[in-house]
Amino acid sequence: MDRNANAPWSKFDPEAYDDDNYRTPLEVDLLITRLMRDYFTRCLGGVFPRSARGIDVDDGANLYPALSMLPWCEKLLLLEYAQPNVEYLKKQVSPAGYDTAWDPFWDELRKVPAYAAVEPRGRVGEVVRVERGNLFDLEGGDRRWSLGTRFFVADSMSEAPEEFHRGVRCFMNALGEGAPFAAAFMKESVGYRVGAHDYPAYGVNEETVRLSLAPFTGELEIHDLRHAVRPGHEEMLLVLGRRNSKIAVP
Ligand SMILES: C[S@@+](CC[C@H](N)C(=O)[O-])C[C@H]1O[C@@H](n2cnc3c(N)ncnc32)[C@H](O)[C@@H]1O
Repeated sequence: MDRNANAPWSKFDPEAYDDDNYRTPLEVDLLITRLMRDYFTRCLGGVFPRSARGIDVDDGANLYPALSMLPWCEKLLLLEYAQPNVEYLKKQVSPAGYDTAWDPFWDELRKVPAYAAVEPRGRVGEVVRVERGNLFDLEGGDRRWSLGTRFFVADSMSEAPEEFHRGVRCFMNALGEGAPFAAAFMKESVGYRVGAHDYPAYGVNEETVRLSLAPFTGELEIHDLRHAVRPGHEEMLLVLGRRNSKIAVP
């Protein structure tokens, strides 16, 4: 069984990953962006002061979850383990500004007033920080965030079921009481290739996801996006919810 520590993360190729997944935006990612935008707007209000501390966990080379949190954050952390992705992200938040590949995602976000009021490249440079770190090291720590995202990772970092559950626990326990969050999962993934390397996955379905998150949430909606995905591409689940008040150790 391929565990998290054995996967070739140091060889992860962010450019190949973005070519495969985001450079030409899929309708399903744009749909996820809109659902997340509307959920965060519902939770945080159209003109909320910039007081949230946001985190995107295992950010990889995907900027759209971070962009979706931008209007509400005074600080926004991108936590990522693979060094090539950390370098990619540092370039995205540098004064040169992020790649134009992310503009179609912002175009979806800025259709609502809370986002339209933001100049995204300037704001990213102002509030976003990139940190190299291992998600599992958050366990037992006292760092907490008030808004969070975690995309295509819980199910895409290990074949081991206990590492899937541990990853979910680490993310959810890093969120403070009432924190809105969004998480996305590939359904029944059997692993994936990036460039010349293979990466492990643990097959999940709606039930697995619901059961793993239930102890941590007071509010949970799961969107099965199977109808929005192009042929040959795996189905996706989007989860939107709020952290409850319990520190759960299921
Ligand atoms: C399938 S990619 C998902 C990337 C991105 N979030 C997205 O939405 O496309 C999995 C990511 O998890 C990161 N990762 C794997 N194990 C990790 C760990 N223990 N701690 C933090 N990040 C990890 C990898 O480096 C990779 O960037």
